[in-house]
Amino acid sequence: MKKSLAWLETNDANLVADLGKLVAIPSISTDGEHQKEIDQVAELTCEQMRHAGLTNIGVLRSGNSNPYSYGEWLGAPGKPTVFLYAHHDVQPINFTEDWKSDPWTLTERDGRFYARGAADDKGAITVQLGAIASWLRTTGALPVNVKMLVEGEEEVGSRNLQSFFQEHKERLQSDVIVVCDTGNIETGMPCITYSLRGIVGCIVEVQSATKPVHSGMAGGWLADAALALNVILSRLYWKNGKIPIPGFYDKVRKPTSKERRVFRKLPGDEASWRKDLGTLDGVGFALQKNVHPYEQTWRLPAITVIAQEASSIKGASNQVLPKASAFVSCRIVPDQEPEEVLEQLRAVLTKDPPWGVKVNVKLVGDVKWWMTDPQGPAFSAAMQALKKGFGTKPVAIGCGGSIGFVGPLAELFGGAPALLLGIEDPQTNAHAPNESLHAGDFRKLTASLAHLFDNLGALPDGKVKAEPAAVAAPA
Ligand code: BES
Ligand code: MN
Repeated sequence: MKKSLAWLETNDANLVADLGKLVAIPSISTDGEHQKEIDQVAELTCEQMRHAGLTNIGVLRSGNSNPYSYGEWLGAPGKPTVFLYAHHDVQPINFTEDWKSDPWTLTERDGRFYARGAADDKGAITVQLGAIASWLRTTGALPVNVKMLVEGEEEVGSRNLQSFFQEHKERLQSDVIVVCDTGNIETGMPCITYSLRGIVGCIVEVQSATKPVHSGMAGGWLADAALALNVILSRLYWKNGKIPIPGFYDKVRKPTSKERRVFRKLPGDEASWRKDLGTLDGVGFALQKNVHPYEQTWRLPAITVIAQEASSIKGASNQVLPKASAFVSCRIVPDQEPEEVLEQLRAVLTKDPPWGVKVNVKLVGDVKWWMTDPQGPAFSAAMQALKKGFGTKPVAIGCGGSIGFVGPLAELFGGAPALLLGIEDPQTNAHAPNESLHAGDFRKLTASLAHLFDNLGALPDGKVKAEPAAVAAPA
């Protein structure tokens, strides 16, 4: 362990340089226009895997999927096999003028590394490879076996995951999953995430006519598709109550009273939330009355209108518009079913359309929610590792975001424990301008992973799962 930690200190600048190379490639997966860059970043990831000392490295694909970078080290027979997951695709750049430095150049300012993907999720590649290299390049061995997979389509819902699993099941089989793609509730506070929300994304299309018509002639006469769309969307407005979709909350699992107590005790206060969210003075939160923000974002569903189209303001002309559409993204929680949620949304959006306009609701994609009980040997090993790496006691939290791979992967491995270790702090601005990774947390997480390998390697008989609870004898 000593050698490994010393190696991390000596090689810090090299690791940062590796991250710099990763973020320099604009591997945006959301627009379908950066295939070349996605291929490049997959190759670079493989090259960095080779450099860290992994073996059997290569790019895997499934059908027309984006490339997955894969590498392994299987030199610890009898020890657990740890599956490391990260993604090399990133979100696009919008609000360009708000970026203070070039999004594709890793720039250090005030103890943070700025760039698109610095935290979400290229930082995780560097953290994982740093921890691996710290062992392999000093002692020549790891205390556990590792299989590392870096996906290229996480930001578009991991859409080829099922076929990918079917084709590579044997190769991927592992005992414990480690993911670094979630948040820490405060800078410097290590967190293990035990729940993720899912997503149902759909496009709502409204059509009233076959062509735009001069509004001097038809304004007030022809049905306005843009206005009709917004009348329909307004049915989703919840003020500070529940989202008014019939049946929407029927299957929502309530947090236990213990969880609720924990939410209230976790750090966070109104002033810092307002600052982190960039909320303007005088603007209130959309929270349900008497619901804590952590419960609202971790354990309750949400609706967000992520885009609207009718005609652009630049070049707008006096016309009644015949077509308008919106992208509605719905976060779902235990125990909501994606198919059912889509039908509930469709019912409320297509009912009694204003002026009888045609309304069509199309599914874009869905991702299931995931939740686990953070108990057992693997979780204890992670808690201890984070405590050593960060020098402070870790906490278990939920997450309002989604990572398509986690649930299905844990299932594929027969209920393997999944350890979601935080890499993003509240100032990260993932998916937004000036995304950044906190330099201190980056180093602490890398050291924690090196400790985690050590702890998992030391588990008696390599057992990572909790013993099943004893079944009570029938009375
Ligand atoms: N790293 C995020 C997940 C996340 C979100 C962690 C919020 C912590 C807080 C991940 O890369 C992501 O953004 N996932 C997408 C998945 C979607 C496209 C299915 C998301 O949550 O929107
Ligand atoms: Mn991510």
